[in-house]
Amino acid sequence: MKILFLDQSGKLGGAELCLIDIAKPYREDCLVGLLADGSFKDLLEQQQITVKVLTTQSIQVRKDSSLIQSLSSISSLVPLIGRIAKIARDYELIYANTQKALVVGALASFLSRRPLVYHLHDILSADHFSQTNRRVAVTLANRFASLVIANSKATQTAFVEAGGRSEITEVVYNGFEPESYLTQEADINQVRQKLRLDGRFVVGHFSRLSPWKGQHILLEALAHCPRDVTAIFVGEALFGEQDYVEQLHKQVAELRLEKRVRFLGFRSDIVPLMAACDLVAHTSTSPEPFGRVIVEAMLCGRPVVAAEAGGAVELVENGKTGCLIPPGNPQKLAEAIASCRNQPEQAAIIARNAQIQASQRFHLRATNQQVSQLLCRVATSLTG
Ligand code: UDP
Ligand code: GLC
Repeated sequence: MKILFLDQSGKLGGAELCLIDIAKPYREDCLVGLLADGSFKDLLEQQQITVKVLTTQSIQVRKDSSLIQSLSSISSLVPLIGRIAKIARDYELIYANTQKALVVGALASFLSRRPLVYHLHDILSADHFSQTNRRVAVTLANRFASLVIANSKATQTAFVEAGGRSEITEVVYNGFEPESYLTQEADINQVRQKLRLDGRFVVGHFSRLSPWKGQHILLEALAHCPRDVTAIFVGEALFGEQDYVEQLHKQVAELRLEKRVRFLGFRSDIVPLMAACDLVAHTSTSPEPFGRVIVEAMLCGRPVVAAEAGGAVELVENGKTGCLIPPGNPQKLAEAIASCRNQPEQAAIIARNAQIQASQRFHLRATNQQVSQLLCRVATSLTG
């Protein structure tokens, strides 16, 4: 099937990593159109997926934009929408992977008469978006999309609660290749030596640095943990949250955690880093739509503690495949870390259960099959 994928980001967030896996089976015939240049383009090219940066003009709709700001921004997009509509005529379907891609994709789908699929990676609630943004997304999806793929039931529910038509939604979890998450003991030892982590209990946090990802919660929890507990933070601020980065460094100094915390920046070698941790912490303070890092930690065979909200609840079964704690609660996080440190055998059993379950529930093969069936259904319902 010939698909025009659209994504607003040049950077590598979870939605973009997910799109690479979805686009791969279509790489002979698809085009990924980006609304910004950056490392996402490079990774698509490395995977032999044809990619084109369609504009470098930044689109000024922010997560908290007002109606006037959104409308004036949309009007400046008219030439871009025209170009995308023209390109779309060579494809059978438009697949919008992010909200700004939905805005241009919806109107291009109308002009080119190509069906629109919207992959919704966000929870459309007041925690994450202004009312205007939610209204724009839901109105465009309801009016123009033949299918909305939600990355979790939590995302699907929020879409419907925001006024979305439930009959056009389907839940498809992110898929993973379990084999890619297996590591050798030697690689793990090498990472631990290089980062001087030997003899420490290492808690890993793998996420872009952003207030709602809650890195500050882990720092605070650390202050309540025994001194051998150390944290590594993997990820950088992707969307201009530089103030938060400074706040985190200040917090490290105030809590005198300099010797127990490492910020490693954005890394592409997530697997050996995760495998080198004794525990992976997920600390989002607002509901996480899906949470790739949770599944990745499970596949690496590492115990996970996650904030009990949004999609995380669908991924982790408390006490069986991980530990769920109330969001934004450093005390409970410290207790979960201590219990994992003090009962390593129990933690290893839970991690093993999680690894087996995650390789079955989140296999990329199943995700790709599900997406392929859904896209065929969209295409045939329009031609049939
Ligand atoms: N990630 C990465 N390098 C980093 C930090 C994160 O490759 O330095 C990856 C991580 O492994 C995961 C994705 O970025 O696959 C983040 O996705 P997630 O769904 O956890 O959160 P998002 O940032 O998309 O909200
Ligand atoms: C978004 C969400 C994240 C999800 C990812 C992939 O970036 O914030 O929770 O895992 O998309 O669907």
